[in-house]
Amino acid sequence: MLGRYVTRAVDAQVRWSKPLGDFNRRWLGALIRPIRPIQDFLNGTWLGHPVHAVVTDVPIGAMTVSIIADLIGQPLVADVTMMLGVLAMVVSAVTGAADYIDIVYLVGTNVNRHAWRGAGTKWVAIDLGGLPDIPQGGPTKVKAGINELAVIREGDRILALHAQCAHAGGPLAEGAIVGGDRLECPWHGSRYLLANGHVVRGPAMYDQPAYEVRRADGGGWEARRQPA
Ligand code: FES
Repeated sequence: MLGRYVTRAVDAQVRWSKPLGDFNRRWLGALIRPIRPIQDFLNGTWLGHPVHAVVTDVPIGAMTVSIIADLIGQPLVADVTMMLGVLAMVVSAVTGAADYIDIVYLVGTNVNRHAWRGAGTKWVAIDLGGLPDIPQGGPTKVKAGINELAVIREGDRILALHAQCAHAGGPLAEGAIVGGDRLECPWHGSRYLLANGHVVRGPAMYDQPAYEVRRADGGGWEARRQPA
């Protein structure tokens, strides 16, 4: 009941909060996006985890210790933890801003789209969806059981990644091959190595599931997820 009133009160703010949020996202994006390595660093591509989620706990802990130290007459400890807490607040704000420019709260950006996807040990037949064969080049979208794959073919060598980008679900089968060995997502430009799905450029910070593809005994192709 109370939750419904709170939700209604929050929703009622959308008329002014959305334009303000869009404006902030635009100027923050213009500031951070052009310096890609910095955005990757702030997002946590190097860590394999959002940095913002890690550092937001630090001010809470530091400030709590500061209050306790003050109460028990330890001014030096209180001062140091207070400074640490303020510094962590600044880091939290900056990393939060880097996440915010990719509309994190609206579309669940930075929530790993494949966190609960099973590894699987079985080979699964590839459904080419009416194509006579996997075309050369790519990426081409095909299905393997319940999973959609973005496949790239060079002769009889097939490289395949899950077609849904780990960052925010972007369509990797509509992405571009960069440097011959990586696939770039068309939504926010994350790049994954075709050979093993490792993320090499953010804003994604999670690896993309990669698949082995081989010819099936009865004709056609089959795929199996590579071990992580
Ligand atoms: S969905 Fe954001 S980089 Fe792919």
